Amino acid sequence: MPIPMKTKVESHGLHTSKRLEGKVAIITGGASGFGETTAALFARHGAKVVIADVQDDRGHALCRHIGLPEQVSYVHCDVTSEADVSSAVDLAVSKYGGLDIMFNNAGIPGSLDFAIADADNDNFKRVFEVNVYGAFLGAKHAARAMIPAGRGVILFTASVASVVSGESPHSYAVSKHAVVGLMKNLCVELGKHGIRVNAISPCAVATPLLTGTMGVKKEVVEDIICASANLKGVVPTADDVAEAALYLGSDESKFVSGLNLVVDGGYSTTNQSYTRVINTVFSPKSLPE
Ligand SMILES: NC(=O)c1ccc[n+]([C@@H]2O[C@H](COP(=O)([O-])OP(=O)(O)OC[C@H]3O[C@@H](n4cnc5c(N)ncnc54)[C@H](O)[C@@H]3O)[C@@H](O)[C@H]2O)c1
Repeated sequence: MPIPMKTKVESHGLHTSKRLEGKVAIITGGASGFGETTAALFARHGAKVVIADVQDDRGHALCRHIGLPEQVSYVHCDVTSEADVSSAVDLAVSKYGGLDIMFNNAGIPGSLDFAIADADNDNFKRVFEVNVYGAFLGAKHAARAMIPAGRGVILFTASVASVVSGESPHSYAVSKHAVVGLMKNLCVELGKHGIRVNAISPCAVATPLLTGTMGVKKEVVEDIICASANLKGVVPTADDVAEAALYLGSDESKFVSGLNLVVDGGYSTTNQSYTRVINTVFSPKSLPE
């Protein structure tokens, strides 16, 4: 007998409009790019959100823009400062009653240092300090709040640089591999406490991070991204990352842990260099008459 549609929907609750109702989230790097879009989406889905960043004006402006003062707050939080990270977690607990989702998203690209022989050591250390140590501190203090509750989700923003080599500077690529390593190790440690740990690895998206690094307009960055994409007909945006975070933060992914969710339209599954060379060699122009 066919199951009536209403029962199907109710049975797994996938179609409730507010998928994070009753949850409390912290989003580091929440004032811009992926963090900004995720903060707005989480709030729309009923979450209480603490936006944690070092861009105070932008963070406050985002709170006003979202327009849910009971639900969304901004806190100055440099993820490389243990005191700041600890206070952000304490704020979520004291103001909203707990911490369900810790999205360790803050990150920097560092300088475009591709040649190891000339690499700037201070840049390498700084990239690690923000991208790896910052993520470690976020996880550490989130776990402090989540372990006694016996539940929670720790999420990281890694990067396609964690699965494709040679397209980012060494410092950035290695930092994102480290984030994925941290995610997997924590998944094992924290599983017994009911805490899920996952990462999202986006491909290039024209956020302020990328337009700033490349020094060109958003449209130019998007043209480059689309020309090199595997999946055609889609311009990747911060929404794609926010939607992945919504899925991993919600109960819809209640049995998903230890996943590096690559959001890249399949870019990392393929390497077209060989095909391109073959096509060039055997193009009609290069064949003998
Ligand atoms: N944009 C991309 O193409 C891309 C691709 C893959 C992964 N990522 C990763 O996504 C994450 C978010 O980047 P984005 O593209 O949204 O960039 P973004 O620059 O728009 O946002 C990053 C935010 O992190 C904040 N931040 C930087 N250092 C901080 C610190 N010490 N403490 C607290 N906040 C800090 C910034 O102020 C900014 O608001 C980063 O981890 C980045 O490495 C970006």
